[in-house]
Amino acid sequence: MNAKKLAGEKAIEYVKDGMHLGLGTGSTVYWSLVKLGELIRKGLDIKGVPTSKNTEKLSMELGIPLVSLSSINELDLTIDGADEASTNFELIKGGGGALLREKMVASISKRFIIVIDETKYVTSLGQFPLPVEIVQFGWEVTCNQISKLGCKPKLRMENNAPFITDNKNYIVDCYFEKIQDTKEVNNTLNMIPGVVENGLFVKMADVIVIGGSNGNVNTL
Ligand code: 5RP
Repeated sequence: MNAKKLAGEKAIEYVKDGMHLGLGTGSTVYWSLVKLGELIRKGLDIKGVPTSKNTEKLSMELGIPLVSLSSINELDLTIDGADEASTNFELIKGGGGALLREKMVASISKRFIIVIDETKYVTSLGQFPLPVEIVQFGWEVTCNQISKLGCKPKLRMENNAPFITDNKNYIVDCYFEKIQDTKEVNNTLNMIPGVVENGLFVKMADVIVIGGSNGNVNTL
């Protein structure tokens, strides 16, 4: 049973005609987008704001009408994946490198729905390295500053070159033993000059949809 597909499709039950939606990034929300495309072909009227160039391309292929973030002040609903979601609804995101746009879109959404498979539902965050988007200029210095939080930052690479985000920045994946105080880490990271945004989503998720390999879907 494809747990990601189960979760991704289930979340579409929250979508209503006329909504403006934030469209997340990744292989779980992929299934939400495919389902959305099917419903649009049957007459559903929605508009979406994509959180990455990949999602923008996929949405256009699926016939999902898009609008830019700049043209709206508020979204009815955003559906997105996560790399870890904790029992107290905190998230690590950015495994796909889209965390900045994802956080901007989620921040103006009335409802933020997370779709994950059961392996990502954890009691406390930190097993997954925390992605942090940083500017290219002086990135080693920024990494050094980040490491003072007690983690090991590692520049993300792709095809033997630094991974470049849609916003032309780098990503460093930060290895923590455990993230104790998520609010503190989130705020401290974002105060470091050179840090653009980090992948901790604190007090943002409203609903977590968890797909199980046994075919069950749990909505929290
Ligand atoms: C991208 C993300 C994704 O939502 C996250 O990495 C989960 O992806 P997937 O559903 O493919 O496991 O934060 O920046």
